[in-house]
Amino acid sequence: MPEDTPRPGLRMGVLGCADIAVRRILPAIVEHPSVRLVAVASRDGARSARLAARFGCAAVTGYRALLDRDDIDAVYVPLPPGMHHEWVAEALTAGKHVLVEKPLSTTYEQSAELVATAGRLGLALTENFMFLHHSQHAAVRDLAREEIGELRVFSSSFGVPPPDPSSFRHDARLGGGALLDVGVYPLRAAQLQLDGELDVLGACLRVDEATGVDVAGSALLSTATGVTAQLDFGFQHSYRSAYALWGSRGRISVPRAFTPPREHRPVVRLEQQDRTTELTLAADHQVGNALDAFAAAALSDTGRTALGEALLRQALLVEQVRKAARIVSL
Ligand SMILES: NC(=O)c1ccc[n+]([C@@H]2O[C@H](COP(=O)([O-])OP(=O)(O)OC[C@H]3O[C@@H](n4cnc5c(N)ncnc54)[C@H](OP(=O)(O)O)[C@@H]3O)[C@@H](O)[C@H]2O)c1
Repeated sequence: MPEDTPRPGLRMGVLGCADIAVRRILPAIVEHPSVRLVAVASRDGARSARLAARFGCAAVTGYRALLDRDDIDAVYVPLPPGMHHEWVAEALTAGKHVLVEKPLSTTYEQSAELVATAGRLGLALTENFMFLHHSQHAAVRDLAREEIGELRVFSSSFGVPPPDPSSFRHDARLGGGALLDVGVYPLRAAQLQLDGELDVLGACLRVDEATGVDVAGSALLSTATGVTAQLDFGFQHSYRSAYALWGSRGRISVPRAFTPPREHRPVVRLEQQDRTTELTLAADHQVGNALDAFAAAALSDTGRTALGEALLRQALLVEQVRKAARIVSL
């Protein structure tokens, strides 16, 4: 290729100078061979200018102005969840592929509308569950098949200490709350590791009366064959990000399930009748892998229907947990 030929690939813009963008996604975009960071937008022009200088791209004031650019093919949306529906819809309508932070939106109805819009316009729409792209989960599934017999129970927890009081996580209008912030991970992990559809049997949400958002919760789900999923989440907890598969002959626990750093070699524990074994798995770069998967979905239209179906299953389960939940006010 001649030297002055532009590098092929996906030209990306970012809506909002979010913490997750700065810490994880922008560094991964900048080092990705087939994704190019074109611009970052902020409500505050000084903030986007600072970030743009750091990551070597253009700065834009206002999200609309970024969507109006015709040198951008795809956008990353790390806004508070309550803003996802509006800005994902705007981005799709502007003809951009969208990588949106979890959760896709705050209701099933809104998510279904976005999936339908992306399908109609022939655009990729991906919810950024990066843990799905770590190789440890396939390794654990293989190990479970060989070592723990018939699967009986899946359990998973994601809990974090209280977020900063100024965070959108405490603001119902911005889509705050522990179910949408951390509860969505155990729900997504249950679908990853269990075969067949899941139904929500019951749930509990602890709601902070002062803010009106849920700060902790639990849910019980089941497959049609009675394999259960016991899920716990919240932001009133010491840090925990784990799942376990318990079968007729053994149990496997995965202690760094959702946010393992790229250099971390996951250690999983296999407990059987007469022995406990710790296995060290390969390190993996789930952030880079997630970006690879999004770029592939944007650059080729294969697999987009399956992506849309997975988004809808997840959104439906979140809604079912909310509907089934006993609400306990604090
Ligand atoms: N995949 C993951 O591992 C992961 C991890 C953490 C968070 N997340 C998700 O990523 C998203 C962002 O989380 P975060 O912790 O990075 O958020 P954050 O640091 O609070 O950033 C949110 C950004 O949204 C923009 N914004 C626009 N209107 C806002 C408003 N009224 N209030 C607050 N911010 C507003 C701001 O950008 P400007 O001011 O520059 O416009 C702000 O920087 C959420 O959906 C969250 O669930 C994902």
